[in-house]
Amino acid sequence: MNRSKTEFTIALLPGDGIGPEVVREAVKILKIVESRLGLRMNLREAPVGGAGYEATGHPLCGDSLQTARQADAVLLGAVGGPQWEQLDFALRPERALLGLRSSLGLYANLRPARVFQPLVDSSSLKREVVEGLDILVVRELTGGIYFGEPRGVQTLADGSRRGFNTLVYTEAEIARIARVAFEVARKRNKNVVSVDKANVLECTGLWRDVVSETHRDFADVALRHMYVDNCAMQLVRDPRQFDVILTTNMFGDILSDQASMLTGSIGMLPSASTGGKTGMYEPIHGSAPDIAGQDVANPLATILSVGMMFKYSFDREEPDRQIERAVEAVLDKGYRTKDIMSRGMKEVGTKAMGDRVAEELQKG
Ligand code: IPM
Ligand code: MG
Repeated sequence: MNRSKTEFTIALLPGDGIGPEVVREAVKILKIVESRLGLRMNLREAPVGGAGYEATGHPLCGDSLQTARQADAVLLGAVGGPQWEQLDFALRPERALLGLRSSLGLYANLRPARVFQPLVDSSSLKREVVEGLDILVVRELTGGIYFGEPRGVQTLADGSRRGFNTLVYTEAEIARIARVAFEVARKRNKNVVSVDKANVLECTGLWRDVVSETHRDFADVALRHMYVDNCAMQLVRDPRQFDVILTTNMFGDILSDQASMLTGSIGMLPSASTGGKTGMYEPIHGSAPDIAGQDVANPLATILSVGMMFKYSFDREEPDRQIERAVEAVLDKGYRTKDIMSRGMKEVGTKAMGDRVAEELQKG
């Protein structure tokens, strides 16, 4: 996308649980950037996940998918909730997310885990271990065991059941995500750790080979390979050794949740899913049905996701930096939502947190 474009369509998919509340706060921020940069943002809302199922009988109906496809970018809240857990696999809220990722061709998921200085003591790890932490997990998002066929649960001749999934990657799928990781590493600390289980799984042995081959075009970037179990351990032992972590769909799912807690709260982490024409931006936390509708959810991950949208979909880095600075300033002034609350700080709700960030952004 080039910078001369000034009118954008954004699909808003608030989803379930705390999704609508946090998206509402992110829209406040979007509107400030819109007027500041003299842009025009056309917002189109559509139901997905459990909300989609209730409205249309399907978690991702044709109209909602169409709204996403026709947009320049998608802002998603979260999907899922206990009331839909008994549904058939194909009708579960999570299918909306997987459907959007694959239909939009979003194979590259970027999940930054940064420790904001004012939150350094909210981490469950010691300050000395996490201070200054800045990791980017690059997760493959449209392949691997999440999408591999055959899959299912079958009934055997003796009447017992057997469940199976398939871990599969083609060379082309591995090479393109590796390229994304090396390219973003060039703009960071030029250090990639590729995570696999090549000692056990053939498919990730191929992953290791193809990542090494792709690396030949990126001699200026350092590459190490690491087994996933070791990586999980290193992430809590010495997380600052990492700059970019490149990994498969399922390992990325797990390691990015783990990396998020290093920063104090999963409520702080934004994400970008790219690779197709329309990028999708969402907090990495889930729908948190237990706290939905109570004005206590942390909207900062969704707000930071708006910053990523400007950077990766609209080719404008400045709003991303300004939003990060506004968030940092609000934290510095002691405002905290419940999940990141600590002694001596001022607890605020979802709306108030959104308002504080909006105020800082207006000033900046
Ligand atoms: C995530 C989530 C999803 C995933 C679920 C909700 C399908 O955990 O985005 O990390 O596993 O990818
Ligand atoms: Mg996850």
